[in-house]
Parts: sequence; structure tokens; C-alpha cells
Amino acid sequence: MPNPLYRQNVISVADLSTGQLELLLHTALKLKAAPRDDLLKGKLIGSCFFEPSTRTRLSFETAVQRLGGKVIGFADGANTSAKKGETLADTARIISSYTDAIIQRHPKDGAARVLAEFSDVPVINAGDGTNQHPSQTLLDLVTIYETQGTLNRLKIAMCGDLKYGRTVHSLAQALKRWGCEFAFVSPPSLAMPDYITEELDEAGCAYQVLPTLEAAVEWADILYMTRVQRERFDEQEFAKIQGRFNLDAAMLAHAKNNLRILHPLPRVDEIHPDVDATPYAYYFQQATNGVYARQAILSLILNEEV
Ligand code: CP
Repeated sequence: MPNPLYRQNVISVADLSTGQLELLLHTALKLKAAPRDDLLKGKLIGSCFFEPSTRTRLSFETAVQRLGGKVIGFADGANTSAKKGETLADTARIISSYTDAIIQRHPKDGAARVLAEFSDVPVINAGDGTNQHPSQTLLDLVTIYETQGTLNRLKIAMCGDLKYGRTVHSLAQALKRWGCEFAFVSPPSLAMPDYITEELDEAGCAYQVLPTLEAAVEWADILYMTRVQRERFDEQEFAKIQGRFNLDAAMLAHAKNNLRILHPLPRVDEIHPDVDATPYAYYFQQATNGVYARQAILSLILNEEV
């Protein structure tokens, strides 16, 4: 029987069953423990980045090449015929006629689903606007499992830009399946959107808003930091919140031993470099896990059996 992800698109965490997420998680852990170099032999993958990226693009391309596949693509949509007005539908028709799967990052919410509608090969969403970033979620799940030994009933604190941060939306939608509890720390204007908190209510997951990062540090098993972008505020408003969502090593004095700090990266000021040397920092290992998570996605959508 083919695996349930064979020839499937990976567009949104909400589309994936808990069983599919567990299959992806355990495949990533298996590929990390016992690397393979043959699972994409003879496959050509389109890597289409209409928006800047360091980790997602390079870890996908590393994943393909280490599994024996080849990559074509672009890192800047400004050098493509999209600049001349070509539609995403036509782009999908053309690139899917060349490749076995397409990875796309795009600034518009919903762009991955549009591409998938007109593509003859599976599409992987590598981030669409403020919407979803499912491969980031998988690497986050791999990292959380690796550091905590379970995904069940963990205390997850999320801090920073919870309104526009696609990584925290996808991650909350995944972790609600394992009965996790959530705490949110953000400026009020960047609070977690209602559609996510409504999903947590429906899943029976408790959540609270905490006033400070220190309170989150004491409470959490995982502290998931994100970047608050200055351009979301006018100068006066930014002055009021400046520094309130930045973490430094002194603020970790009351952390539980098992606390691990994650961040999708890039970071700017929200994690001081003095946190890097503490036993709680795990964001660089998290980024490394991106290769195994993305290998799991690619090998499952392109092989009946892995
Ligand atoms: N985490 C993440 O998506 O990083 P990049 O924007 O560098 O790909």
C-alpha cells in the first residue's frame, strides 16, 4: 500500500492528519539517525522562491542533493517572467512540466494552493505570506520531540509577532493534536488571531496571555520566540514596547531544566547573543533539523514506500 503522502501536496498543516504528521516526524528522525543518499535518485525538484530565504531554500536544496536528486529554480522572483505579468497558474503549468515536485515560497497568502491547483506534480508550500509554513512546523515538531522526548501535553509559550507570524500559526495548529497548553506573550496589536484561539478552544487546549517573558520562561517547556518587526508600528507605539519582547540570559534564572528556546530565525534583537551559550538555546540545532524534516517531506511525496 502506498504511504498516505505519496503524490500529495503539502500546503497547510490543517490539511495533514495526525497520522500523516506522525509519519513525517518519524521519517525525519529515521533519516537523521540513518542518512540515505538514494531516495530522490532520478528526481528533479523545482525550487521557486519569490521571497527572500536563507534556511528554507538552502535546507530544501541540501535535502534534495543529499538524497541523490537534482534542483532547478530561482531565489528571486524579480528574475522570472512573473515580473512581466505571467500568472501563477501558467507558472505552475510550465514548471510542473519540467519537474517531479515544486517547492514554492511566495509573499501572497494562498499562493501555494493556487500553484497546486494548476500543477501536475506535488507542491510544497515553503511559506505563503502570513498564512502557513508547514515544513517549518515539521522541523519544529522534530526539534520539540528531540528535546522533550514527547509531544504530549507540553507547555508551549509563544512570544513576539503572533498576528503575522506564519510559523506560530502552523505550529499551534499542529501541537493542538497532542493536547499541549499554550501561553502567548505579544504586544496587544500583534496578538494571536481569533481563528487560531478558536481552533485551540475546539481542540480543548488551554491557553493564556502572559504579561512578561519572565513569566513565560518560568512556565514553559518550550519558549518559541519570533521577531517583532519595527515597521508594524509608528515610532511612538514602538517606543512603548521596545525591549519588552527581547530575551537575554539573565531572564532565564528561573527556567525549568528542560526548557528549550526555539526561533524560526532570522533573529534581530529578540534573542541576545548571550543566550546562545546557555543550555536552553536550541535554535541553531532547530535550523539543522530543517534538512531532515524536508528530506522526510520530499521522500514521502515522491516514493510509494520509504
Ligand atoms: N525560518 C525561515 O523560514 O527562515 P528563512 O526565511 O531564512 O527561510
